[in-house]
Amino acid sequence: MTTMLTDVLTAEVRELAREHDAVILAHNYQVPEVQDVADFIGDSLGLSQQAAQTNASVIVFCGVHFMAETAKILSPEKTVLIPDLDAGCSLAESITADQLRSWKAEHPGALVVSYVNTSADVKAESDYCCTSGNAQAIIESLPADRQILFLPDVFLGIWLERVTGRKLTVWMGECHVHAGIRPADIERWQDEAPDAELLVHPECGCASQCMAFGNERTHILSTEGMVRFAKESSKDRFLVATETGILHRLGKEIPGKTFEAVSEQAVCQYMKMITLEKLHTSLRTGVYEVDVEADIARRARRAVERMVTIA
Ligand code: 13P
Ligand code: SF4
Repeated sequence: MTTMLTDVLTAEVRELAREHDAVILAHNYQVPEVQDVADFIGDSLGLSQQAAQTNASVIVFCGVHFMAETAKILSPEKTVLIPDLDAGCSLAESITADQLRSWKAEHPGALVVSYVNTSADVKAESDYCCTSGNAQAIIESLPADRQILFLPDVFLGIWLERVTGRKLTVWMGECHVHAGIRPADIERWQDEAPDAELLVHPECGCASQCMAFGNERTHILSTEGMVRFAKESSKDRFLVATETGILHRLGKEIPGKTFEAVSEQAVCQYMKMITLEKLHTSLRTGVYEVDVEADIARRARRAVERMVTIA
């Protein structure tokens, strides 16, 4: 797209948002033009909090489907739009509500903590939801004598066991993008940039996480945690182990510091389905509305509300 077309579409998107009383929320992995036109950019936790408290009548969610569903659960009276209905998530696909019901039946009395990357049906079967930004705080808030079923991300689960010292029963799901960041990617950088700080998302593959433990220059963080950490750090070179969309935000908000992806292949094709053109169409024509069946939303709300209040 030419810069002129981007500028025209950006101006029209802002005008359409004003006309329709819409707020545009964009995840840190969105393409630069979408991040640049959004009202708020953030991680899953920050965007859910924005969705819960906005006064706008319409929320346009530039992210993936489970995020738009979560916004609808938190703000049922609002219209929630997603610019492409096919923007899914391999991690959310790794467990169904039926599978969770069977798992719960095998572990009666256990508390269920679901990562936000799950469908509304799975959330409806859960006691707590969490994001990478508050998973540790949520696990630490739970009674020590209760078994915890944690789902669906195995790498986040292993990391949580490590930082909380609690034994969790963990579902074996993964995100194909983060699991695809290999130990060799990290090793290469450790050789090439021994002076850099390494920012690692907890969904990343176990081996790279394990290598990370015990190294004081390695920091396991949510995407918003990465932005905050890099802003406050006295260091000026950072290697980033997560989806590459975050580099736009880091570079824009923290000029003068250097950010490099440990793997250029770490691109989520679902996040990239949302484009400026589709956002424009979404605002102009009101597509695609995301709805959550009333009974599922009612049952999911308690877990999701716990997620936005425990930070
Ligand atoms: P956060 O932005 O909450 O760290 O999540 C990363 C992610 O993979 C969302 O799909
Ligand atoms: Fe899902 Fe992974 Fe894409 Fe995040 S990066 S939306 S967890 S597939």
